[in-house]
Amino acid sequence: MAKPQNPDAARLADLAAQLRHHDELYYRQAEPEIGDAEYDELWDRYQRLADELGVPAADRHQRTPGDDHSEGFQTHRHRQAMLSLEKANTEAGFFAVAGEDVAAALVPAEREQRRRTAWGKLEAWERARRKDLELADDAPLALTLEPKIDGMSVSLTYVGGDLTLAVTRGNGVEGDIITNQVRESGAVPLTVREQGRFEVRGELYLPRAAFDALNRELAAAGGKLLVNPRNGCAGLMKRKDAEALRGKGVRSFLYSIPPGGHDAALPASQWQRLTWLKEQGFATHAGAQRVAGMAAAYAACLAFTAERGQLDHDIDGMVIKLDDTRAYDALGVTEHHPRWGIAYKFPPERKATRLNGVIVQVGKTGRLTPVAELEPVFVSGSTVARASLHNFAEVAAKDIRVGDLVIIQKAGEIIPQVVEVDLTQRPSGAVPVPWPERCPTCASAVVVERRTDKNQKEFITHFCPNPACADQVRERLRHFGSRGAMDIRGLGPAAIDKLVATLGVVRPDQLYALRADQLEGLEVEPDANGVQRTFGAKSAANLVAALAGSKSRGLAHVLAGLAIPNLGEKLSEDLAGHFGSWAKLREFARDYLADEPRAALAIRKLVPKPRLLAYAQAAAVDVPAKATREDILAAMQAVGMRPLAGIDETVADVVFATLLNPAMLAVIDGLAAAGVALEAERSVGQQVAAIAGKSFVLTGTLPTLTRGDAEALIKAAGGKTVGSVSKKTDYVVAGEEAGSKLDKAKELGVAIIDEAGLRALLGGG
Ligand code: IVH
Repeated sequence: MAKPQNPDAARLADLAAQLRHHDELYYRQAEPEIGDAEYDELWDRYQRLADELGVPAADRHQRTPGDDHSEGFQTHRHRQAMLSLEKANTEAGFFAVAGEDVAAALVPAEREQRRRTAWGKLEAWERARRKDLELADDAPLALTLEPKIDGMSVSLTYVGGDLTLAVTRGNGVEGDIITNQVRESGAVPLTVREQGRFEVRGELYLPRAAFDALNRELAAAGGKLLVNPRNGCAGLMKRKDAEALRGKGVRSFLYSIPPGGHDAALPASQWQRLTWLKEQGFATHAGAQRVAGMAAAYAACLAFTAERGQLDHDIDGMVIKLDDTRAYDALGVTEHHPRWGIAYKFPPERKATRLNGVIVQVGKTGRLTPVAELEPVFVSGSTVARASLHNFAEVAAKDIRVGDLVIIQKAGEIIPQVVEVDLTQRPSGAVPVPWPERCPTCASAVVVERRTDKNQKEFITHFCPNPACADQVRERLRHFGSRGAMDIRGLGPAAIDKLVATLGVVRPDQLYALRADQLEGLEVEPDANGVQRTFGAKSAANLVAALAGSKSRGLAHVLAGLAIPNLGEKLSEDLAGHFGSWAKLREFARDYLADEPRAALAIRKLVPKPRLLAYAQAAAVDVPAKATREDILAAMQAVGMRPLAGIDETVADVVFATLLNPAMLAVIDGLAAAGVALEAERSVGQQVAAIAGKSFVLTGTLPTLTRGDAEALIKAAGGKTVGSVSKKTDYVVAGEEAGSKLDKAKELGVAIIDEAGLRALLGGG
């Protein structure tokens, strides 16, 4: 996937990364770090956000990512890992879609990178390879260019002219044996001229016509339809009844012969190897070309973009390879990709479809977001039916009207977005999308907030002002328990809905009054997979324990969980770190709102300098090298920002006023009464039960920790380190060449642990 392009995309990518991490532990290492309930909850959060962003099911995280292994298949270890390719994505059109406000929020380097097309990356790649190969800038560099087939990679082995083995990519190291399926599919020659042993790799794919035919068959039989040709092909190749593959139309393109493991006499040029493969009877892609230098390769990639629609199969880019295969070995590979090739990815596909309607979603701060309901359309590999329209001003700026033919694409290959309207196709009588006057959920009169940025661009946001609005209540509770906030395990969206509906929970502080007996037996609505769940004794007890555990997260997490506009995780950390406690922060907020001069003074150093610098850079402010805090503030002021030690005054106004509004004070008082710590984490929160209050003696050299590190870890977790061993010592942490202290510990019967033991106590494993 391309880099995330906006905060929602970043959150989605983060959740997907967490899911991948846990999948890896669960499936491949068989050592899960979290329980099923927690995994389910993570899964729920991911699905919810994906729902909000209109991400089609086919593009969502699948439970066995990066590994095509299926139950019941024998596996085979690849002689050489089947890796991925480095990618040069074209981000052209990003700003048109994401909007300049997203662009302004990026740090300059990232913005610059986004503006650059794939060319920058390709050029840098060519330079790096010339350096590796000790080639002058003007020395000829032959490159072979091949369409990047959007299929399923396969490794085939031929011995004595016969196909003897076909293996899927699997996890890259080990794949599933699908020899019978490949034989039956008719996708590759079963016999070849070459009698020596060799392995050849390529792609199995389903031509679009075969895919459509298959779906027609499935539809007639009342079965579930395939989402795209790639998945269709993968599904077919994993059928246990291999005969079923006959006549299904699976085809192949072969493109590489991995080094070693073959005794065929092969040419040392990729281009000639393609010819050799063709002579053996393999299908090679007619779109392959050989060019001199990257500029020519790039031009050929752009030219081929127009041709992709004419092909009878999907391709998602072009693969550019050094033609001279003798260089491959020396260049080597990274963990992820070989250095001899790079993939140019086509710009996101755009499709036109009808806008059937615009619905309004209510967020945790009451913000109203318009969401496009689209005539389902197949784009970049899956069917899209919804897309976030961000805000009503954007809908107006793009003049999007219900009934319009709109052009859509997927940002980062995942998140559907409306790019523009085809005005020539506007139905007569189409009217602009009205700005909401009433909240769709609670019917409160909508509040419109207008803000102008330094470039005089106006931002208009619609809010439901009613904190008791059912949607807001639910979203706030969900946010409070989320990972960046109080991180309460077991408090997924479905559970929250139930707590609101049946136990009348409306404020975060009320969560802490929940008892296990109230939860037990509650039936939670079906999740995205249609599975209904009931709170059993164990999950009820777990949730109560998770709530209790969250009480010590500390002030920054509490602040971040309050769903105050502009008060995200970073500013929450800054405020907590600076003021140290809610009492001090509240006192300051009062002074600030009363315009007390001492508040201005107190806030001067609020944001740490590196963070201040990052804020300035994010707003594209040029900051001189070696700038002091004052320089940075002056530079921000010079471009029309009104920074108060790094926080924009408008942000400060909202944050401090919201913190002190009576409803918020009631929540915070309620949290305090429930025993939630309102001090900065450094004084509470990181204590580790196994270490807090215990005394440790360190002796000898630990394998990875310095003595200072180990002392700091113990101290941070609430323990203390002392110099000599006595009966009162709880643990002696012994490393290499531990001396008399270890002997003393043995003599006194004090527990002796090593670094791993210390880490285990710390909970880090
Ligand atoms: S060369 C190290 N050539 O794209 C793997 N790959 O994103 C280099 N692919 O896993 C393979 N068409 O499955 C190569 N003409 C082509 C390709 C191609 C499609 C796939 C392949 C690979 C993936 C990398």
